[in-house]
Amino acid sequence: MEKKKYYITTPIYYPSGNFHVGHCYCTLIADTIARYKRLRGYDVFFMTGTDEHGQKIEKKAKEAGKTPKEYVDEIVTDTKDLWKCLGITYDKYMRTTDQEHVECVEKIFKRLYDQGDIYLSEYEGLYCTPCESFWTETQLLDGKCPDCGRDVEVVREESYFFKLSKYQDRLLKYYEEHPDFLEPLSRKNEMMNNFFKKGLEDLCVSRTTIDWGIKVPFDKKHIVYVWIDALSNYISGLGYLKDETKMNEFWPADLHLVGKEIFRFHAIIWPALLMALDLPLPKKIYGHGWLVVDGAKISKSVGNYKDPRVYINETSVDALRYFLLHEVTMGQDGNFSEELFLEKFNADLSNDLGNLVSRVTAMVEKYNEGIIVKEDIEKQEIDTELIDMASQLIVAIENDMEELKINDAISKIWNVISKANKYIDLSTPWLLTKEGKTQRLNQVLYHLIETIRIIAVSLEPYMIETPTKMFEQIGVEEELQTWESGKIFGLLKAGTKVSKKDNLFPRIDLKKEKQKVENVDNKQEVKEKKEELVKEEKYITIDELEKVELKVGQVLKVERIEKADKLYKLTVDLGNETRTIVSGLVKYYSQEQLLNKQIVVVSNLKPVTLRGVESQGMLLAAGDDVVKLLTLDNNEGFLENGTRIH
Ligand code: ME8
Ligand code: MG
Repeated sequence: MEKKKYYITTPIYYPSGNFHVGHCYCTLIADTIARYKRLRGYDVFFMTGTDEHGQKIEKKAKEAGKTPKEYVDEIVTDTKDLWKCLGITYDKYMRTTDQEHVECVEKIFKRLYDQGDIYLSEYEGLYCTPCESFWTETQLLDGKCPDCGRDVEVVREESYFFKLSKYQDRLLKYYEEHPDFLEPLSRKNEMMNNFFKKGLEDLCVSRTTIDWGIKVPFDKKHIVYVWIDALSNYISGLGYLKDETKMNEFWPADLHLVGKEIFRFHAIIWPALLMALDLPLPKKIYGHGWLVVDGAKISKSVGNYKDPRVYINETSVDALRYFLLHEVTMGQDGNFSEELFLEKFNADLSNDLGNLVSRVTAMVEKYNEGIIVKEDIEKQEIDTELIDMASQLIVAIENDMEELKINDAISKIWNVISKANKYIDLSTPWLLTKEGKTQRLNQVLYHLIETIRIIAVSLEPYMIETPTKMFEQIGVEEELQTWESGKIFGLLKAGTKVSKKDNLFPRIDLKKEKQKVENVDNKQEVKEKKEELVKEEKYITIDELEKVELKVGQVLKVERIEKADKLYKLTVDLGNETRTIVSGLVKYYSQEQLLNKQIVVVSNLKPVTLRGVESQGMLLAAGDDVVKLLTLDNNEGFLENGTRIH
């Protein structure tokens, strides 16, 4: 029998900077659903990718001294590494700079023009470059972009337009007839109130002021502007208008997963474009919420984030997957902070799950030499309670997953985990062994290991290393690791050999982690106090000044320090020696910018250790919010490194 098909997508992200946990969040949800559908026997096509054209990328590349393609290539390589670290099982990585996409967009644009859905006119609007959004006068907040608060510019130019207004009635009718099309409902209602009340306007779909993009095939001074380029990826990636095998298999998409800020584009423009192309509409568009830190959206343009791999290195990939999938309620915004993440790690993963597996496997080893024995004796009430819960777990997860309630599904797993932990306390295996109640002891241990097996199966859509580790410890063969096998309690065979390993999630010493941060802060304080004392003596003598040895140094190497997000470790050439200097410049200078610079070094400062690295000197820099390094005027030739500064 042919497998059922399932097509799921994430947005294609702008590679305008490196990605953060927000991007991980959306991609993880998609990955989890994809994994779940595969476990249910679907033939899944999971696509993610990058949206690589546009003014912002053009600008960023220029700033970095690269061509746009060079610039995005680097970020794409890094993104693919990030997805690998997170265990993302995408089937296709779509890039809008790929030839197949470019050709597809050209054909779509031409076709819409030929059939009269695209026409030439003139556009005047208020444009916010960082957000790539046009706004009307009334949408502005105090004359600024309502999304980011920055200045907007008036732009007037010849443009092609898509007849969006023509599709308004068809769209409304479609929403009405397909109540599951747009979710969550609150998001849909919000959109209806904001955009349909005023009526839809035609959409500007080309620009003449951008170079980096796909040219309108019949009018090359125009570049296809944002949404036709970006949205078409969902079908260009299936070979639309080229080799349509995949298109026939997988279109219409089952689920487009997008963040709430681009929900309306997917809910209005995309269906209208598909209607114009005479293609069926996707089955569902889901607008998820944002990860926020201190109340603000984590965002590339604000820069309030760390590389997600920091958290993975600190704990494990499954810990990050668990946190993002469980702690952020689907459809709503959720808080992310390192502190919260580590707290949850200790409580839910190390304590609840990790300890359960450690305790139970240790008991089987201690009391039964690791061997599972199956006893046919009557069950007690606490047994049936545990068995009922465990045997219903997988089906309960299926019900939640069909409604995209990922958090609820995971919560149900943790309910079983805590039930099992309670079961240990109530059944008291240590007393059973003392009292020689061997049969009951065997029965209890069987129930616990079997519950652990089912928990491991249930974790398969969400975690990528933990289920395997659990199966290894409880020694079950592959046929008892399948999704379907998790629906039946009692498949575990007598004679199964259990072997205890380290805790699945070794506890993190939160005090130590905090201390590390505080140590550095304290040093800062001491330094500041000293500075104040010096300030009180208003003047110093020339002799005192001479005590400070300043030298010309040159930066040979710039490295990041693990877990210190503000500090660089610099290797500096002082002529007859090199020094390691730790400096808090991460926010202000890129690694490339620092490399080879000639700078001013305080070379006789007593060494201090910052985050485990000995700093042998100090660089001179000015400023608080904006920091500038003191460098040498090298216009008229260079001074030797190590030259004394007077
Ligand atoms: O909008 N919390 O790209 P983009 C949760 N190229 N999710 C977040 C997030 C956060 N703080 N920040 C970003 C674009 N995301 C267009 C899309 S699609 C045809 C074109 C996720 O780089 C979220 O899914 O701004 C959001 O919609 C997406 O990244 C936007 O990524
Ligand atoms: Mg965005």
